[in-house]
Amino acid sequence: MSDAETYLAFAGIGAPVTTAMRGMGYFSQPASKGHHLAKHGGLMRHSVNVTRRLLALTGALCVYWPRKESPYLVGMLHDLVKCRCYRAVPGEEEKWEYVQPEYHGHGACSVAIAAELGIQLMREEIAAIMFHMGPWGVGKEYSESEFRAAMKAFAQQIIAAHTADWYAAEVDEREVE
Ligand SMILES: [Fe+2]
Ligand SMILES: [Fe+2]
Repeated sequence: MSDAETYLAFAGIGAPVTTAMRGMGYFSQPASKGHHLAKHGGLMRHSVNVTRRLLALTGALCVYWPRKESPYLVGMLHDLVKCRCYRAVPGEEEKWEYVQPEYHGHGACSVAIAAELGIQLMREEIAAIMFHMGPWGVGKEYSESEFRAAMKAFAQQIIAAHTADWYAAEVDEREVE
């Protein structure tokens, strides 16, 4: 079993949903168009990296989660939208183009796709995924007042998810220059 499949199992996601995620491209899509892990399988590797960092932060900072599966669910599903928003450029190797997904905001879109898959998320998990861009998402994915309200209720979970995502992208996944 790959790291990604193991973490999905720890998230409580069963084989039928994992198979549906495979069909959506979860194990083959890139993590970005050109920033980090812009390659086949990049989304899966990024999700594993974020989950690993989120588990470490959860332990170090005593981040509250409502169930043991929560950091696995948040880490593995936070960028689910990327199954849909990149398309391979025909005839080019590891070249991707952006496709606008049908829902607004990439965190919120990931929550929506999890719902489509029948994955039930709890409020701390939803907030962490929806606002995982942290302050960077203000004015792009959500308003300042929405971000403030979310932070008032879920600061621990949002900061942990945002930091794990940032650390994975900028440290774990940095290309050697
Ligand atoms: Fe993201
Ligand atoms: Fe991410």
